[in-house]
Amino acid sequence: MPFVTEAARHVIAAGGKRFRPLLVILASALGTPRSAEDLTRAALVMELTHVASLYHDDVMDEADMRRGAPSANSVWDNSVAILVGDYLFARASDIVADLGVDFVRLQARTFSRLVQGQIAETLGPAEDQDAVGAYLAVVADKTGSLIASSAMFGGMVAGLPADQIEALAGFGEELGVVFQLSDDIIDITSESTGKTPGTDLREGVATLPTLMLADYDDAESRDLLRLVEGDLTDDATLAETLRRLREHEVIEKARAEVARRAEVARAHLAVLPEGMAREALSELCDTVVTRSV
Ligand code: FPP
Ligand code: MG
Ligand code: MG
Repeated sequence: MPFVTEAARHVIAAGGKRFRPLLVILASALGTPRSAEDLTRAALVMELTHVASLYHDDVMDEADMRRGAPSANSVWDNSVAILVGDYLFARASDIVADLGVDFVRLQARTFSRLVQGQIAETLGPAEDQDAVGAYLAVVADKTGSLIASSAMFGGMVAGLPADQIEALAGFGEELGVVFQLSDDIIDITSESTGKTPGTDLREGVATLPTLMLADYDDAESRDLLRLVEGDLTDDATLAETLRRLREHEVIEKARAEVARRAEVARAHLAVLPEGMAREALSELCDTVVTRSV
């Protein structure tokens, strides 16, 4: 149906970093991909799954911008965005079937973790749960899982041995967490991400900098935390909160934590074969730490 195709192309055509397909390709270069067609399929499945999740995420977050363009829910409406997200996931499922049952199973398990991460984020931590621990578990599920699967897909297409696939899983999961933690900081600090700054804050979604703010007990920090936890639907209040957060030391503290975790990701690479592909994966750790979009 031409309308579905147009709506499905909307977010893909808007741009994006293509981080997941890049990871599939780099991981596959640790060995020799069994065919160019299967490598393309593996990369495509990961990007389509990611884009499908963005259509749904923008509905849940009531986001009006994505990749520098109006989000699908704002161009059309929530129903179209949800159904087109479903359609893209169906297309990804069709393609993954050609790769074999191991790929299908990993894709299904990844989908299950994405959904569970989103639900846990929506529910928020339980009374007796540590807020930072709950947040990191959400991040691992909603972002780490698909990035881990991207690294694994690449390794699987290249027929790497089980211990190397396991190392890629550990690397991808940690890199995915670092990627999302950077994203959370950028949501506060950058005006040029292609998304509306402060979306997480406005929606009351906990992120690393706001959680770390609770560790400070000076008057300015306590006052800022009250603002962060209050109603931020008013544009002027949101802008003021963003301005004060950007000037707070907590942003640097959060950045330091991101850099520390990038080294944890890098450590997983030690068991992989030395060479250009491993170097490139190592460089990805630096890119994720320093990224500003
Ligand atoms: C973005 O987080 C959201 C995700 C990484 C996962 C979304 C997953 C779902 C909606 C489950 C359904 C999945 C499929 C495949 C249909 P964010 O809101 O913090 O990031 P943002 O700043 O990019 O919006
Ligand atoms: Mg979002
Ligand atoms: Mg979200």
